[in-house]
Amino acid sequence: MEIVALVNQKGGVAKTTSAVNLAAALAKLEKNILLIDLDPQGNATHGSGVLESNLENGTVELFSELELKNCITKTSLYDLIGTNITLAKTEMDLTQEYGREFILKEKLSTCNDYDYVILDCAPSLGNLTINALVASTNVLIPVEAGIYSLTGLEQLLETISKLKRLNRELQNINIFLTKFDTREKLSHDVESYLKENFPEYYLGNKIRVCAELKKAQASMKSIVEANQEARSAIDYMELAKKVVNN
Ligand SMILES: Nc1ncnc2c1ncn2[C@@H]1O[C@H](COP(=O)(O)OP(=O)(O)O)[C@@H](O)[C@H]1O
Ligand SMILES: [Mg+2]
Repeated sequence: MEIVALVNQKGGVAKTTSAVNLAAALAKLEKNILLIDLDPQGNATHGSGVLESNLENGTVELFSELELKNCITKTSLYDLIGTNITLAKTEMDLTQEYGREFILKEKLSTCNDYDYVILDCAPSLGNLTINALVASTNVLIPVEAGIYSLTGLEQLLETISKLKRLNRELQNINIFLTKFDTREKLSHDVESYLKENFPEYYLGNKIRVCAELKKAQASMKSIVEANQEARSAIDYMELAKKVVNN
């Protein structure tokens, strides 16, 4: 079972969009998928078509006493452990707990039902994100092809490599580009920078800017499910294949 965390302390770089679409794309490749929403904002939950009002148990209960299998909500393509804003309290309460970094890893060790577990993280390096980094076998860093996207990247990679002390299973740390605009020089410049400075991390995958993706999100669907011919759907399928073959 591979555990893939989408991590970047910056907001708006397409972590959630990528977590949802990667989950859907891997499911389309006949993989058994669990997506866990680790951001109190609950965007991955909503983006998976699950309304807060339909959510019984989820990430909050996963971090308390409940067994993993009792925290799951079924969606059309994959299983979800969803959340709402009450997860913000969990994040704070964790600060008081011994062994707080290992809770998610322990919970996942009781389960072998999936090919991939996808973790959508909040835009911070708080307790929940640390839990994700400690539990994961693969870290995927979405980098937006925009002007301020590269600041903080070095620091993030440093933090992740320090956490390797707590996570011997972490094998791959990779970067891919999001919101790539083929007509914009800046997008190409950001890619050149990654190729030059982070060649061992950059996967070579780019998710192109896509208006249809926004439409799909407005109807609480992944673009992979809503329109597999949209360019971002094609790009997410490519990313999923890369994850499988990596
Ligand atoms: N390929 C894309 N094309 C157009 N808009 C995108 C694309 N990827 C993400 N977005 C938009 O960018 C915004 C931030 O994405 P989100 O996944 O919520 O980022 P994060 O989880 O990192 O905060 C959202 O409004 C989303 O619709
Ligand atoms: Mg998000």
